Amino acid sequence: MAKQRTVFVCGGCGYESPKWAGKCPECGAWNSFAEEIVEKTAAKRSAARGGGIEPTALSDVSTTVGRRLSTGLSELDRVLGGGMVPGSVILLGGDPGIGKSTLLLQALSACAGAQGRVPVLYVSGEESAAQIRLRGERLDALSPDVLLFCETSLEAILEQVRRTKPALLAVDSIQTLASEALTSIPGSVSQVREAAGRLTRLAKEEGVTVWLVGHLTKEGSLAGPKILEHLVDTVAYFEGDRGTPYRILRAVKNRFGSTNEIGVFEMKAGGLFPVENPSALFLTERPEKAPGSVVTGAIEGTRPLLAEIQALVAGTRLGTPRRTSIGVDSLRTQLLAAVLEKRGGVTLSDQDIFVNAAGGLTISEPAADLAIVAAMASSVFSKAVDPLAVIFGEVGLAGEVRAVSQAEARIGEGFRMGFKRFWIPKGSLERLDKSQVPREAQLEGIEHVGQLLDRLV
Ligand code: TYD
Ligand code: MG
Repeated sequence: MAKQRTVFVCGGCGYESPKWAGKCPECGAWNSFAEEIVEKTAAKRSAARGGGIEPTALSDVSTTVGRRLSTGLSELDRVLGGGMVPGSVILLGGDPGIGKSTLLLQALSACAGAQGRVPVLYVSGEESAAQIRLRGERLDALSPDVLLFCETSLEAILEQVRRTKPALLAVDSIQTLASEALTSIPGSVSQVREAAGRLTRLAKEEGVTVWLVGHLTKEGSLAGPKILEHLVDTVAYFEGDRGTPYRILRAVKNRFGSTNEIGVFEMKAGGLFPVENPSALFLTERPEKAPGSVVTGAIEGTRPLLAEIQALVAGTRLGTPRRTSIGVDSLRTQLLAAVLEKRGGVTLSDQDIFVNAAGGLTISEPAADLAIVAAMASSVFSKAVDPLAVIFGEVGLAGEVRAVSQAEARIGEGFRMGFKRFWIPKGSLERLDKSQVPREAQLEGIEHVGQLLDRLV
């Protein structure tokens, strides 16, 4: 027997409440609750009553995940941990218009073409078949093995998958699907969850690799991909400014690979192209010898990457000076400004501070701390940092510089890109595996931000 009840669901995080509330107690979003009718059916108990699957000894479990399928795009394979695992579910999220459908169509047609007639089912609930064909022509991705299915009914899609038995299923987007079993509108939390849940079960049962596209949404009017993160195997988000041609795809969750792995792409007339040497890309427009510009060695997933940190410190006209950052955590910038003021003796209380990771990159590692401090100090003193120096290290509240992981890889990448000097935490220098570092690299161990300032002035 189906029983109906009304609940209020937060579009941001999926929190359910029996009452409407202005602010979500779970994720803190305002005005995010929408009314939904949920139907409860008596739970199926057949498996629980016996006749279900028997447990297996952990030591007897087979570890073969099946051969990974390449997507034909090296940067995408890297984000997935070396290609797609059969039977896995991959969520591809990002702002509308950033390039999700483009990436998907390129990857699908490469798979269909290269892997010996692998049938691929591309379900679109957003665009017409003609629109997708036009995109396919632009991308030179018209494979006869990509079957197009413009449909939004979940039941019809599941039926089609059972019939065509594709190795790969792509759903663009999950927010357009609706199950006939639910009365709520497409894009609501319950519909999105239901569709993702049933497609995930299908992936596991039939060994189909499933791609789900999810638009990031503001205001919570549509349920965003965040509420599906726990359900799927891999979550990758597109980052990047739509004003620039560069796109960064970042794995924020991956059951089959490392997280925070990034893939860098350039959007051209013929689609998305992998950028083979991202360090070069992020440094191309660097103003050498300009105060406030510092190069740091970051680790993104398993890959070392050079990035430019820029700071501008200028006298404020406001009572409370501004601390603004793009691409680095703003709380971290405030903290580092306070450390520079208190431990480095640099007056900043009457200065606005702007910090930016150039090229649309987002850096969340504390290893960039020392570069941020150096950029701020360089701007204050109007003195350029040595253009051949790479700076990294975590900075503590006492102004101490703490060791960071994988110093060898950071130095190696810097050296490969033509940098000569490396200002690194003293702790990292002491622990360094010298055989992994080019002999010509000039290394300087830094213990305290004061020592960094001595090198700048
Ligand atoms: P799209 O993949 O439709 O974005 P999403 O699915 O994330 O909403 O990409 C849309 C943008 O990409 C659009 O502004 C046009 C641009 N584009 C190119 O620059 N080159 C191309 O080859 C294609 C297909 C799209
Ligand atoms: Mg799209």
